[in-house]
Amino acid sequence: MKQGIGFIDSGIGGLSLRTAMIELLPFEQITYIADEAFSPYGEKTAEVILKRCQLLTDELIQKKCKVVVLACNTATTQVINQLRHDYSIPFVGIEPAIKPAALGSKTGVIGVLATKGTLNSQLFHQNSLLQSKKITIVEQVGTGLIECVENGKINDESTRNLLRSFLTPMIEKGIDRLVLGCTHYPFLEPVIQKIVPPEVEIIDNSRAVIQQLKRILTEQGNLELGFERPKHLFFSTKTNSRLKNFLEKDEEFNFLSI
Ligand code: DGL
Repeated sequence: MKQGIGFIDSGIGGLSLRTAMIELLPFEQITYIADEAFSPYGEKTAEVILKRCQLLTDELIQKKCKVVVLACNTATTQVINQLRHDYSIPFVGIEPAIKPAALGSKTGVIGVLATKGTLNSQLFHQNSLLQSKKITIVEQVGTGLIECVENGKINDESTRNLLRSFLTPMIEKGIDRLVLGCTHYPFLEPVIQKIVPPEVEIIDNSRAVIQQLKRILTEQGNLELGFERPKHLFFSTKTNSRLKNFLEKDEEFNFLSI
């Protein structure tokens, strides 16, 4: 049986990795679980997120996945170390790209927009501590943005106003790099682009994550070298799922009762 790449997110955020995935790993099959019944993760405790990620990982292993991508900054920064300790399957995570932002910054001030869970996590603080000697990090919790994306309200005036209220103080503090620290936020990039001045570079590391995944698969001799595009499978833990609305025609959707 073919072995796929498992993806976990609280909702549709992990879909922001799909473009890079299809471009860089076109023959790898995606098995994606959106834990919509427990969304948003950013407001949950690390214990709840760990329990959910364990259940979803068990499910992905059962579905013959060879790697699990935690396509969620909140889950990565809070529970990836524990998952790596508990399971033998490799995990690839995504966390706010502070290092490239810091290296590229000319003003020495960078902004990080992320969930409360990510900004409060130990992993985020370890990273930001390393960088903070040289640069100032302006943190902002993106309360409500996940709901804007999930509800398809990307271009609504209310979303623009919410983003403006988060970004204006960051711009006033002199940021020249804005790190998108949540996989839902790349969907808002065109709107963000219109709010921030042109000298502010928006940093989304979804491509870097898939490049890392490709490196791991290559090192393990586990890279799928096919000719046929595989059928991607999508699952949601919620019956009235929103994920369905974001899928392509040839992508299969099923409800998962976990
Ligand atoms: N996409 C998740 C992330 O990258 C969202 C977490 C949430 O559900 O709050 O953090």
